[in-house]
Parts: sequence; structure tokens; C-alpha cells
Amino acid sequence: MEEVVGSGPEPAVGPPESVPTPIGEVVDGGADARPTGVGEVDRVLGGGFVAGSVTLLGGEPGIGKSTLLLQLVGAAAARGTTSLYVSGEESVGQVRGRADRLGAIHDSLWLVSETSLPHILDHLETVQPEIVVIDSIQTLYDPTLSSAPGSVTQVRECASRLVGYAKRHGTTVLLVGHVTKEGTLAGPRVLEHVVDTVLEFDGDRHHGLRLLRASKHRFGATTEVGLLQMEGSGLVTVEDPSGLFLSDRVTGVSGSAVVATVDGNRPLLVEVQALVANSNLATPRRSAQGVDSGRLAMLLAVLERRCGITVSGSDVYALAVGGARINDPGADLAVALAVASSLTGQPLGDDVAAVGEVGLGGELRQVSHLDRRLSEAARMGFRRAIVPQATVNVPAGLEVLRAPTLRAAIALADVAPA
Ligand code: TYD
Ligand code: MG
Repeated sequence: MEEVVGSGPEPAVGPPESVPTPIGEVVDGGADARPTGVGEVDRVLGGGFVAGSVTLLGGEPGIGKSTLLLQLVGAAAARGTTSLYVSGEESVGQVRGRADRLGAIHDSLWLVSETSLPHILDHLETVQPEIVVIDSIQTLYDPTLSSAPGSVTQVRECASRLVGYAKRHGTTVLLVGHVTKEGTLAGPRVLEHVVDTVLEFDGDRHHGLRLLRASKHRFGATTEVGLLQMEGSGLVTVEDPSGLFLSDRVTGVSGSAVVATVDGNRPLLVEVQALVANSNLATPRRSAQGVDSGRLAMLLAVLERRCGITVSGSDVYALAVGGARINDPGADLAVALAVASSLTGQPLGDDVAAVGEVGLGGELRQVSHLDRRLSEAARMGFRRAIVPQATVNVPAGLEVLRAPTLRAAIALADVAPA
């Protein structure tokens, strides 16, 4: 049977709004990112927010999303940018109280407590803000939809109406989305494809440290991490991240090694700890916090097969201190040295940092940004670094101990079993 194409009445559409343009004449849309005034946020965004873009800020309740966004619109308003903060969770009085603590009281910042989408769109027409915060997207509802407020349909529909508004008016829209530990509360995940940028805000509840990352960003890379500290007057930039991560370090204790890592483009020194303890479990426990558990398992296997260090009958705990999260193969060497040190009870020298990826053959491999890592180690007062054999470009003040293999590195660090 023949399929008839193009028959039937034309659908009633208006003239197209789009105009094909030679690529060389198109204005670069990523170029007009405007700095937020909060350096760590600009670092993650690669400059700042783009006009007409929609950003979703996800994170667990209480992590500091409202605080961060109130600070951002406060900073924008301080420069005279008309800003609107829509709270669906708190009264304007409560937001005002927080804004006082954050120093965010400026004439260009407007507040409204509202959850009805049509009313919010009316307020946007009235205030005409360049930047608007919706806190949170889960509280919005459109009364013309039959589904309940907070349902996936409501959240998705309200978000896409706000996206439409942002594109038409060139407004920067920031949406808060609560995410639970298990991953989702009706909402944020289903919005990821609707918005331009997804930022994730997390941290260690017991530490003031907060990490901001982009998991999606239409206008740039998603590699940079923003480091902020929650204090009494809001979130402040961590001036010396390495200093922060090393501040609680006790030296002369076995099972500790310092890695010269990089997070995005930023060099960072982080203490890695391991504890090897006798196990009476049939399957000994393996616990990894802030370091990759698959990577830990691989390193334990390499220690056993290539270095003669056996922990198969022991529980092994490994963690990155201070709530740091290390996602860097260059941390392999430090993790392995910490395990060896814990097992033998021999501490590493307190002036030694380590960097290197461990291969399955037990060899030590080069990693990216080695010069920056070593410079940061030197800046933090480390005098020696254990590095892969082929390392070049060593900064002044640092002695490098080159090792071809993990076994050789363990010997150099003096943590080999007798
Ligand atoms: P909040 O921004 O309300 O979190 P979210 O919007 O993600 O739920 O932050 C809540 C926590 O932050 C709360 O426990 C109090 C703390 N906080 C400070 O420590 N300093 C401050 O200046 C502010 C405003 C909040
Ligand atoms: Mg909040």
C-alpha cells in the first residue's frame, strides 16, 4: 500500500520565528556570560550566568541552596540588576531575616512568597527582573492542570513554562530543586533535559564545606568544582582549600598519606586515611568514603598480587579527610601507601606527598597537571613527593622520589612489611 505524504489540510501554524543564518554571522551565545560576583560560582559556570538561561540547583534539604541563591541575587541587586526572589516555602519576612544576615538588602532585590505559576508569571511581568530565583520548583503548581501540586506533571509543566518565559525575555532563571539521599523527590531529575544547566550542591553535613558542581552545562565544561564554606554570615569562598583539607592532620600516625590531587583545574592537597583491621567476617568489610570503592578494591588486589601485601582477611576502611571527594586516578598511590602504612604500623614521613596512578601490573603511571600538583605540594610545605618514574618539571623546594612501581614506592616511603 502506498503511503500518501503531504495530503490533508495544513496544520494551522503561523509564520516561522526562526531564520536560517550562515554560522559565521551567528553571535556566540556562550560569550555573554555575566559574572555573578561569587567567584566560586563563576568558576563552575565558566564565567557566570547567561541571559535567558535556566539553571536548576539541586541538593538535599538544609545544604544551603536558598542561602546560595539569595546571596547570588543579592550580589546582582548590589550592582543594580533588578532581581526577584520567589519563595514558595518561606514567608517574605523569613527571607528578609536571612537576607539581613547575608548582607543582601538592596533596592533592586524584590521578594514575593507565591506558589501559583500564573501569579508568578504576572509578578515577572510587573517586576521585569533580569534574574529570578524560584525556591523551590517542587512547591509550584498550575491550577489549570488536574494533577496535584508537587507531582511530576506539575513540576515539569511549571518548569517548561518558566523556560519559555526565560527564552522570550532573556531572563536568567534559577530553580531550586530538593533532592533526597536516595536520589529523587518528585522533580529535579525529570527537569534535567528541560534546563540549560544543572548544578549540584552538596557537602559534608558535619563540616561547613560545600561543593558546587555542574552535572550539565550547555555553555561550558562541567569539570570545575566550587568550594564554599557555610558560616554565620552565609557562604564564603574557601581561600586556601589545601590548608582547609590538611588543617586537622595529625602527623606520625600510620595509615595516612597526602595526595597532591586536582579537582577540575584546581590543585588540592588532601589527606587519605586507611585502616586495616582483623576481620571475623566471612567476607571482610571494605569501606570507602570520598574515594572510589572500585578503585580501592583494585588497589588491594594489586597490593596483594604485585607487592606481596595481603589484606584479604582484613577489614579495610579508606577515606578522604574533611569531606573531600577524590575522583582522580592520581590518588591511587596515596591510597595504596596509606593501606600499606596501616598494615605495617609505619607512618609515612610528614613532609611527603604522593601522586601517581597505579596500573594492574603494579606500575606507576603519569597523571595530568603534575607540575601544578607538585607546586601546590611545595606551597603547602611538603619537602618530598613520591611520583611516577618519568616525572619532569619539578618545582623548587621539592625533592622528588621517582618510582617505577608501587612496590618501589612502598619501599621509598618506608612502609614495606618486614
Ligand atoms: P538553607 O539555605 O536554608 O538550605 P536549603 O535551602 O538547601 O534547604 O540553609 C540551611 C542551613 O544553613 C541551616 O542549617 C542554617 C545554615 N546557615 C548558616 O549556617 N549560615 C547562614 O548564614 C545561613 C543563612 C544559613
Ligand atoms: Mg531552602
